[in-house]
Amino acid sequence: MNAGVEHSCAAGFRISIGSETLIPTINKNKLFPPLLQFESRWQEPGEQLFPRVRVRLTFVVMSTGHNRRTLHRATHRRETSTKQLTSHTPAGTTAYQAATIGVQNPLAHSSFSPSPKSLPTIAKFAMMEDLDLLILGAGWTATFLIPLLQQRNISFEATTTSGRPVAGRPTIPFKFDPTDPDHTAIAALPRARTLLITFPLYGPGPSAALHAAYTTTHQSGAPTTTPSRTPFRFIQLGSTGIWQRKGGQTLPLSNPNPDGSPWLTRHSPFDTANPRAIAEDELLRLGGCVLNLSGLWGGARDPRAWVGRVAKTKDEVRAKKSLHLIHGVDVARAVAAMVGCNGATWEEHGEGQRWMLTDGFVYDWWALLAGWAEVRQEGEEGVEGGEVVPSQQARWVGELMAEGEGVRGLPRQMEVLGRCYDSREFWRVFGLVPLKARV
Ligand SMILES: NC(=O)c1ccc[n+]([C@@H]2O[C@H](COP(=O)([O-])OP(=O)(O)OC[C@H]3O[C@@H](n4cnc5c(N)ncnc54)[C@H](OP(=O)(O)O)[C@@H]3O)[C@@H](O)[C@H]2O)c1
Repeated sequence: MNAGVEHSCAAGFRISIGSETLIPTINKNKLFPPLLQFESRWQEPGEQLFPRVRVRLTFVVMSTGHNRRTLHRATHRRETSTKQLTSHTPAGTTAYQAATIGVQNPLAHSSFSPSPKSLPTIAKFAMMEDLDLLILGAGWTATFLIPLLQQRNISFEATTTSGRPVAGRPTIPFKFDPTDPDHTAIAALPRARTLLITFPLYGPGPSAALHAAYTTTHQSGAPTTTPSRTPFRFIQLGSTGIWQRKGGQTLPLSNPNPDGSPWLTRHSPFDTANPRAIAEDELLRLGGCVLNLSGLWGGARDPRAWVGRVAKTKDEVRAKKSLHLIHGVDVARAVAAMVGCNGATWEEHGEGQRWMLTDGFVYDWWALLAGWAEVRQEGEEGVEGGEVVPSQQARWVGELMAEGEGVRGLPRQMEVLGRCYDSREFWRVFGLVPLKARV
């Protein structure tokens, strides 16, 4: 090592079986013996258990100092026998396969001698090749995001609380508990340049705790680096609900626009006392980014299915004004654009930025209810096949229009709808146009 230059180093592994990348469980105490042995285990769907698998193991030793460089990279290919394990869960029995893999440790044979000071840094790394994205919470959004990432060859891993596969991909079991001071589960997460947090965080504390725990357990470089100067990009999914208060009132209670315009943008005042907004603001202060999403639809989520829940009575229909939506495909495209943007774009448009995302439409609930009027009456004895008639909600819309609500035709004027989101800035800045709209 160069005298006078403070270096730290890191070592890591990536195991691939077939096209899958597995996260190995590494015993950090075994980084320096001549033979490295560690076990990896993974879940197989159904009964597909293989007695032997071909394993590709990439071993990387890296030094970070003034000039970051890779000191050693070795790829080992071998066939290895597997063990079959079963884990009993309340839902049933899950089959796992496990492989124990042993390789010569290049560290033990190189002239590289890390300083004792850097040893804790070395032990922190589970994988050296940073992923492009780590999805913390692969729920509904991930069913659109994962296929897009695969199409674009963006490397990623994803977590769920149970470790269930999502969109055909295995996930890492992970549940974030902001009250738990033990960061072992966070430390075991793979290292990624961008982290997408899809689940809600509430109030002061959790955003900072997750940010600090991931940063301190994954950052390389000088130990003096503070968690707030994170090398990682954090993106939190939020909701446009922060621009509303219970009862649907826009904030502040009087119209925030001096000209009385109904339009709100990402810069408009929002409910800063909303627990999600508090957590989001905390992440923004740490350099993260928040995407406030409007109503999510696509796949199994069909806004028509919401009608029975949100417009059960004529009074509920009377109160219904604007609706803003975004399709899962466009959420995925927005996230992929942020993951793929260069450092300058991230610094200008990602770091500390709150974005509002809609598909560009302001939907009028009355127009939607009238447009979805057709329902088929049940035939005799509940058999389908009766006459097609207007839904109850469409009839209420007709009555309200006739009762002198001042609405001569649909859709209603933006001023009548009262709360209209303008999210053009996001699409312009990231050079995108929504793919899906007009439910
Ligand atoms: N629904 C809407 O119309 C709407 C509108 C605007 C914004 N949003 C927001 O958009 C975001 C994404 O929505 P979505 O529908 O994709 O969410 P989702 O389907 O509920 O997915 C959330 C994911 O987070 C995981 N998770 C939950 N709590 C966790 C914890 N404490 N630690 C670690 N993982 C945890 C869940 O794991 P499991 O899979 O194991 O459960 C799941 O994979 C949410 O924040 C949502 O509130 C929703």
